[in-house]
Amino acid sequence: MSGIGPEAAPDYTIEQKWAAYTEEEHAVWRLLFERQERLLAGRACREYLDGLGALGVAANGIPDFRRLSEILDRTTRWRIVAVPGLVPDAVFFDLLARRRFPSTCFIRRRDQLDYLQEPDIFHDIFGHVPLLMDPVFADYMQAYGQGGLKARGLGHLERLARLYWYTVEFGLISTSDGLRIYGSGILSSGSESVYCLGDPHPHRLVFDLRRVMRTCYRIDRFQDTYFVIDSFDQLFEATRPDFAPIYREVAALPDFEPDQVVENDQRFSGKACSRKKWAAAELGPSLGRKRLEDVR
Ligand SMILES: [Fe+2]
Repeated sequence: MSGIGPEAAPDYTIEQKWAAYTEEEHAVWRLLFERQERLLAGRACREYLDGLGALGVAANGIPDFRRLSEILDRTTRWRIVAVPGLVPDAVFFDLLARRRFPSTCFIRRRDQLDYLQEPDIFHDIFGHVPLLMDPVFADYMQAYGQGGLKARGLGHLERLARLYWYTVEFGLISTSDGLRIYGSGILSSGSESVYCLGDPHPHRLVFDLRRVMRTCYRIDRFQDTYFVIDSFDQLFEATRPDFAPIYREVAALPDFEPDQVVENDQRFSGKACSRKKWAAAELGPSLGRKRLEDVR
């Protein structure tokens, strides 16, 4: 994580200082936004696109968190707080549990459009925030924060981090129109938003909580395996039970490699996507995370 700066509050929050963004920084946002807007039509789930529209996260420049928070607060009681970078697990979980989404303020440079290891404001705001407008997903994120605080005490953070990775960051959802994206790591990546739905290589498995908790992941390349949910209600219900006995159960079982598929796995058999053409965009790996404990 980045060190806490002198201007940060005890909960690591800082001021966004929106007026200090340069024209070049707004121009980079516009480039990223316009590209993703084109790519995500027919690929992102409806809830995400609805949230993006309702928030007015538009192409004209980096959004002001105060304005976004007003709309979010009215809709699902979430707010965005600015943080200097990755924050400690306990701080991250506590913010989510209080319906505060921590976002970085910096934006990548023009020569980093396609790959950045640390999350930037485009990933955090464009990728994560629109789904916080959906009431079920908004509750799921809060429950995840509450679960994180508990998992820390139980020593099972790694298994909970896998759940975040394969849902919030890289999740796919089955819809009547075909497979769609809801994971923010994909939504903010031009190349992976094409790859995850159209490429024949990755496995697309039906979501199973225990299977997800046992599956390792790679942060430095496209995912080998995606897990597909039916709905956010299903995801929320599947993760509602007390995880303590589930952690104990999966801890006694071997992990799965990211690309491993076993006999009992249920492959997603629905339509991958309604789009006919899949340009094999080779723009580099999606935004990854450096450390497993960086569960955002
Ligand atoms: Fe993220």
